[in-house]
Amino acid sequence: MRLRDLSLLAAGRLVGLVLMASTAPAAGPTFSKHVAPIFYKRCVACHRPRDIAPMSLLDYKSARPWAKAIRESVVKKRMPPWFADPHHGRFANDPSLTAEEVATIRDWVEAGAPEGDPRDLPPAPKFVDGWALGKPDIVIDIGEDHVVTPGEDAYEHFVVPTNFTEGKWIRAAEIRPGNRQVVHHVHVLLVTDDLKMMEVASTKNMPSLAQYLIREGKLSRIRPDAPVWNDGCAPDTPDLPFLRGAQEGGLAAFLPGRPPDVFPEGTAKWIPPGAKLEFVIHYARISGAPQTDRTSVGLYLAPGPPKQVLRRMDLRNFFLRIPAGAPSQQVRRCYDFEQDKLLLSFTPHMHYRGKDITYELETPEGSREILLRVPRYDFNWQLVYRLQEPKLVKKGSRLIVTAHYDNSPNNPFNPDPSQTIRWGDKSEEEMMTSWIEYLDVPSSPPLRAQRSGAR
Ligand code: HEC
Repeated sequence: MRLRDLSLLAAGRLVGLVLMASTAPAAGPTFSKHVAPIFYKRCVACHRPRDIAPMSLLDYKSARPWAKAIRESVVKKRMPPWFADPHHGRFANDPSLTAEEVATIRDWVEAGAPEGDPRDLPPAPKFVDGWALGKPDIVIDIGEDHVVTPGEDAYEHFVVPTNFTEGKWIRAAEIRPGNRQVVHHVHVLLVTDDLKMMEVASTKNMPSLAQYLIREGKLSRIRPDAPVWNDGCAPDTPDLPFLRGAQEGGLAAFLPGRPPDVFPEGTAKWIPPGAKLEFVIHYARISGAPQTDRTSVGLYLAPGPPKQVLRRMDLRNFFLRIPAGAPSQQVRRCYDFEQDKLLLSFTPHMHYRGKDITYELETPEGSREILLRVPRYDFNWQLVYRLQEPKLVKKGSRLIVTAHYDNSPNNPFNPDPSQTIRWGDKSEEEMMTSWIEYLDVPSSPPLRAQRSGAR
């Protein structure tokens, strides 16, 4: 211990003696006492050995060499990853540091990132090795030991049968990556018959989706000569599939640092008999030897039919077109509420050219409110934004989703600014999709689900 530390310590004791229970001396923050609690709470879910982030922040020795980068990342709000504009909406899963926490980390780094007394460390966080929600009732995996080869990022789709002979209500779903070092994120979708659903949802004059889609193996994209409707909200937008109504889908997601999907109390999701699950897995770029992965999802059964069905609407604009080089192409999609609904969360989904996205609500009386704005969309972080207070939306209201795409060479993620881009599954093509979780108001009994096989 250096002399200065000793005298500080002595001074501290003295002050402590003189002032008894008064506040501690204003010594600078230390890792053990002030910084570790913040890291434990906000960083180590990803920054720990064998997890997605490049270094561990669990202990002083591992964190110390990164001190300056840590200061930068928290002062510039790059970490923890979160992209909602703080001026609009409050979100239950907002991990942002408070101004005080940022100041603590900054002051700590600027004071030379001292360790302090290890006895001040809070209890080390516990990580569950295995299912965080306990043993699932049913486990379904991707059906193969998938080999991830070094080189590029990869998106893989695995469609597997549930072999359910009767439908099931589930109260939670936990995705377990088979190999944490390569799995960046995972979505598990319920595969229903898209085309059939679209026919049901379509109006009499709507052409069928099959007319516009090209399937190449497991992936689809829209025909280059399909009509273009970048403004899906324009009054004269024709009835095109995916520009009217909404599609239902989506079961669970795994994202770095995100807890498993436990559905709100009293709600459940329905898996119909014979359903298939589609795993969409983003494998991060690796170097070195090939790795294998066998990701799975654990399903937790609800005791019976829920009070409320947790629903998800998927809003998409399939008819976008982003000209080569365009720095900020706008694409819109609207949804007119046919009944009252309680909105719970938003998950925007675009690809490499996605730039920003805004969700705005217009009431029948014409007042407008921004529910969520993501000013700097980042394809690497497919975040869900859960409203702190669910939003009751009245019938006749309109949700206006406005996105911009940067197809210019200034976008560092742009794979090829010389291409005109249309909708497609591949990351090099684009999407404009929003997943919105909601409940019907008043609660509607799960009629459709019951008809399709529930007991
Ligand atoms: C949800 C997972 C996650 C959380 C939570 C998280 N990080 Fe990170 N962090 C990452 C990943 C992944 C990378 C590497 C890729 C990147 O930079 O996006 C990274 C990179 C970093 C870097 C190096 C690159 C840079 O941008 O400066 C620093 C420093 C950092 N994180 C600090 C923190 C701190 C401090 C916290 C908590 C306050 C934190 N992170 C929370 C996942 C996370």
